[in-house]
Amino acid sequence: MKNIIIINGPNLNLLGKRQPEIYGDINFNDFLIELKNKFSSISISYFQSNIEGEIIDKLHEVGFHFDGIILNAAAYTHTSVAIGDAVSSIKSPVIEVHLSNTYAREDFRHKSYISPHAKGIVLGFGLKSYELALSSLS
Ligand code: DQA
Repeated sequence: MKNIIIINGPNLNLLGKRQPEIYGDINFNDFLIELKNKFSSISISYFQSNIEGEIIDKLHEVGFHFDGIILNAAAYTHTSVAIGDAVSSIKSPVIEVHLSNTYAREDFRHKSYISPHAKGIVLGFGLKSYELALSSLS
């Protein structure tokens, strides 16, 4: 059985409540139940943190033996050299995911420190972005 982890960054714990016009009105935990049912042949772990260093620690912890990492580093995508370095330091393939099309938004969201080190990128499809990323790893 493949081991995949979804890692969500800051403010994504508020999905469903936070700017629903951009991020939708579904809570991530409800979505995760659906995703696990749909991809029952994959072991899907989940980690969310609002703290940069915790995200880096989790990447180090799983990044040498997991079959894939789906990473939405949220705002840290656009600011964190350290998370970019962590992604480039590990062995597991990382798929960068965003709910929104960051290129259709403010200029500061056009820069990603993750993209140069990611195996692939899925963005703009809401929660479906996670499902597409998972399909690519399954
Ligand atoms: C996001 C896009 C980021 O620019 C933003 O800071 C987020 C969410 C997305 O999934 O669309 O928090 O990563």
